[in-house]
This record gives sequence, structure tokens and C-alpha cells, in this order.
Amino acid sequence: MDPIEEIKSRLDIVDIVSESGVQLRRSGRSYTGLCPFHSNTRTPSFVVFPETQGWHCFGACAEGGDVFSFVMKKYGWDFREALEQLAKRTGVQLEERKPSFGSQDGAESHLHDLIEAAADYFHQLFLHAPQAEPARQYVAKRGLTDTTIGEFQIGFALEAWDACRTHFMNQGYKEQEMLDVGLLTENPENFRRYDRFRNRLIIPIRDGNGRVVGFGARTLDPDGLPKYLNSPQTHLFDKSHLLYGFDMAKRHIREARQVVIVEGYMDVIQAWQAGFRNVVAQMGTALTEEQLHLLKRVTKRFVIALDADAAGAKATLRGLEVARQTLDREVEVLFDPRGLTRHEGRLQADIRIVTLPPGDDPDSIIRRTPELWPRILERAKPVVEYVVGVLTADLDLSDIRAKEEIAKQIRPLIEDVASVVERDHYWQMLGRVLGVDDKLLRQIPSAESRRTPPPPTPSAQQAPPPKTKSALLRNKQQAMRGKQSHFLTHCLFTPALLGQVDALLEAHGEPPVAARDFANVEEQVIFAALRQQPDLVQGNGWRTLDGSLHQRLEGLLSQPPTAEPSQIKLIEALVLSVLDWRAEKLKQFNKELGQLLRSRATLNLLPNMPSKMRL
Ligand code: UTP
Ligand code: MN
Repeated sequence: MDPIEEIKSRLDIVDIVSESGVQLRRSGRSYTGLCPFHSNTRTPSFVVFPETQGWHCFGACAEGGDVFSFVMKKYGWDFREALEQLAKRTGVQLEERKPSFGSQDGAESHLHDLIEAAADYFHQLFLHAPQAEPARQYVAKRGLTDTTIGEFQIGFALEAWDACRTHFMNQGYKEQEMLDVGLLTENPENFRRYDRFRNRLIIPIRDGNGRVVGFGARTLDPDGLPKYLNSPQTHLFDKSHLLYGFDMAKRHIREARQVVIVEGYMDVIQAWQAGFRNVVAQMGTALTEEQLHLLKRVTKRFVIALDADAAGAKATLRGLEVARQTLDREVEVLFDPRGLTRHEGRLQADIRIVTLPPGDDPDSIIRRTPELWPRILERAKPVVEYVVGVLTADLDLSDIRAKEEIAKQIRPLIEDVASVVERDHYWQMLGRVLGVDDKLLRQIPSAESRRTPPPPTPSAQQAPPPKTKSALLRNKQQAMRGKQSHFLTHCLFTPALLGQVDALLEAHGEPPVAARDFANVEEQVIFAALRQQPDLVQGNGWRTLDGSLHQRLEGLLSQPPTAEPSQIKLIEALVLSVLDWRAEKLKQFNKELGQLLRSRATLNLLPNMPSKMRL
């Protein structure tokens, strides 16, 4: 998932609009307020839709969009500013993507050469250097065979400040390049540069295509800190986009129709050696949707194996809420059930969780009793069930308050589940576990509070409209996005088409295609750029496009447009597609308007209400 999608998935537009000063109040499935974009103090014509995460002004502006277009319009930000602000707020890492799209440019492939050469340099040291003897003994003690050492290209960094630096200077590399790939580090006080990895076991980390992008370096000193020193976050090495072992495991994941996600490098290596090869590791960060997307290309079944201490404690689950509220994400959360449930729905995947016996990790289990490993995996449970299990593990069944507290914590999780049937199942299950009628449980409000609560309304007792979309709506939106991408791809490949499409639209009394015709901000911005520079792709125009959009652009270009029997047929098809989206949008608005009118009618039946509360 690209950062823009990631940001959207972590935000609720209702919060963003409320915080900007618009007083929203609940009205059916949406929220209404006074439009901040045109002067009007009487009619609340501004509507926010939690389900689609969109907004629209039905009054003078007659405009709408998503959370990005809202903040851009509201705060006068351009796309980059909006991206940076919202990324900061959601803790999403924006990669400083140099223009790396299309053929790799020279500088970048030079850096790749350096990092590959470094992997080999460390590996040769491990195999042959006398100083690596303790490292070799350590690895032998952990049971790794020579074959495994070779397959994973295990290495060793000398105990020296400038061994690596000198070696690669002699090879003609610049200090700056070594800094860029994280082989050197700089003392901020005297700007001295020295080897980052010293006297450590080196584990090269590869991207999905098997190219080395960074290193994990384990201390050989039992008291050494940190235990693993990793390459710094760069655009080459971004932990949130990588999974350790994926390049090798890919084939086996496909065969096994399932991927097992573990926590550490050693777990992957040990499992591989024992013949369990569908295993990858997250590297000290919570799973991101980007990582799940990588995996989803090969399987839809995920089993996450967590160490007992990483997920087991209730404290972790509480810590989660804290992390969410502070929003600066300094707390690294390894296990984020809420995030997982959302990913699961969006990816239509099957995510299961299993906890390992206390004190064990996959590495230790597989070394001791390999036959236990598959049996442990069989015990994996769906996310909600797992969390219910953890929260109720030592529940005193007579503690009514605790039960209520648990129900409050579980509610948002259940609400995030995409399927109605599953949601119903979880309520019943929770009812059984707590010994409370599930019909009552369903009425207990969630523990989460909005940061800016909407003012009380006559319908305040209802649960807030869910942010999760119904499967139907999601499918519709996906289909729509597919059509829009398809359209955009055509125009990117053959910009001249656009003029002809516009002409035909105008001939039918329709306005030309505009950025706002597109539902997603990525397509909007790319389309706007194409309008300004028709040779966006053919020329160098794409370089001026914000780096965060390159991935999307690549995606659009990777699906060559379908052939049509003739140019005329193609243009007709494109025009029909545009009309289709516009009609679909109007249909949605119509439905919302109907709802607004109905809730207004209800309000008018309450004559004693203060007038400002009325629509
Ligand atoms: P663990 O502390 O569970 O380490 O961290 P491990 O994999 O069992 O390591 P061994 O068996 O003692 O060698 C799990 C993962 O978290 C990341 C690493 O990716 C590690 O594999 N980690 C851990 C770090 O990045 N830095 C650290 O200091 C510790
Ligand atoms: Mn371990």
C-alpha cells in the first residue's frame, strides 16, 4: 500500500473536519455541519460520510472530495504539504523517493552495487578472517549449518572503526555513498565518520527481488546493546516495506498456501534450515499494510506467530490505545489487532494469530522439537477471537465491571470486521465467554472516545456510523477506482486522447474531464499534472510529480491499456466511462440527500428543539 492509502486508512475524516472547527452532528449515517468553504450561517449543507471517508457541500460550493482535498482546501496546502502534515499526524513514514521510477538511474544502481559488495565483504570475513572465529563459534552454537550460512550470506564485521570505510574507499567509493547506505555513521559533534557495524554478526536483508538493501547486525557480546543494530531507514531500506526472508520464501509460501510471520531474523533462518520455508519476519515494527500487500500477491492466509511477551500481556493491548492517542507513534507496537482487522477486511485476507509458549520463540522451538511447530501453527486463531482470549484469560466471572470494560475494548475491533456474519458470530462468542446475553453486549458503547466529540443530538444513543465500509460499498468503490485507473492509463500512454474525450463530452453538453472526477487523491493529482504537461510520462514531467506518487504512477503504467477495434470506439468507451462515474456519484449523493431530507422531517416533528439544532 502506498503511503497515501496508509494515511487514509489511519485517519477518520470526521475527526479531521471536527478539528478544523466545523461543528458536526450526527444525521443518519453521516454528519452534517455548516460549510467552511462558503459563507452561510444557517443551512448545514456540508456533509461528511464516515463510510466512504468523503465530504460534500450540497450548498453553494457543490464540491466534495476526500480527506486530502479537505485539508488542502481548508488550510491552503498543496498536495505535498497535505501529505507531510497528515503523514506526521498518522506516523506514516514518507520515503524520500528519488525519481527511481522506470529505469533505475545511475547513482542509485551504484549504491546498490556498494551494498551488494558490502554483503559479500562481510560474508568473506565471516568465512575466512581469523578475527571471526568467535562469530563462527557463536553461529555453530546456534546450530546453523554451512549451507544455511551460505544461503543467508551470514557475515561478520571486524572490531574496528574504519575497516569497512578503508576497504571501500580503496575500491573507489565515496564516504558520502557509504553514509547513504548506512555502512558508516557520523558523529554529530565532530562530524567524524566511522564504521557503523563493529564486531557484529551481519545478516543481509533483501527486498522481494533478492537485492540486498540493508543489514541486521547482531551483537556477539551477551550484554551488547542494542541486540540488533539495523541499517538506518533510507529510501533503499525501509523496514515498513520489507519482510525478512520474503525473497526466498515466496515460492514456498505459494506452495504451502500460507505464510507464517515471525518476529526475528533467527526464527526465519532456523525454520528454513528445518525445512519450514514459508516463513518471513517483521523486523521490530508492527505489520504494515504495505507488507501485507507484498504477501498478498502470493497468499491470502497469514499466520502471525508472536512471542508470548510481545502480545500476551494485557498491558500491550492497553498500550495500544495509548499509542493511538498520542499519535506520534513513538511507541513501537508490534501487535496491532485493530490495524490487522482493518487490513484483513480491505485485503480480503485471512489473518490468524498464535502465541508461542512463554520463554520460547520459533527458533528455540524448532531447534528443540521441530515436530511441535506445525502443531502450534494449527492453533492459530482469528484476530478477534485471539484478543478476546487474551483479555479474558484470567477474568473473574463475577467481576461485572471487568466484563463491561472488556466489551468496551472489543467493540471497535468487532465493528471493524468486514463481514456481518462474522461480526454476529463474535458478539455471540463474546456473550458466551463473558456469560452475558450478547444482545445486551451489543449495546455497550465502545471505550474509544472521539477527540472532538460531536455535540449531543437526538440520536446520540445510537452507535456512531462505522468507519468500515460494507463489503458492497467497498466492491463498488474498487470497481470505480479500477475504471478510473484504466481511463488514466490510456491518457498517460496517449495524451492526445484526452482532447478528443473532452470534445465528445462537450458535444453532449458535459463538462470536460476534471481532476475532481476522480475519487482518489492520487489519481486527482496525477491527472492534474497530466493536464499541465501532456508529455508527463514520455518526457521528464514525471520527475516533477511528488515522489510519493511514483509508485502509483508505476502501477498505472504497468497495466498496458486494452486495445479497442478503432480510435473512435476507444474514445466512445472512455467517454462512457466518465459518464458512468459521474452518474454513480450523483446516485450516491441522491441517496444521501434523501437521508438528509428524511432526518430533517423527523427533526421538524420535535417543535421544542432549539432552532439552531434544526437542519
Ligand atoms: P528478539 O529480541 O526477539 O530477538 O527481537 P531474536 O530474533 O530472538 O534474536 P536472537 O534469537 O536473540 O538472536 C526480534 C526481532 O526484533 C528486531 C530484530 O529484527 C529481531 O530479529 N530487533 C530486536 C531489533 O531490530 N533490534 C533489537 O535491538 C532487538
Ligand atoms: Mn531468539
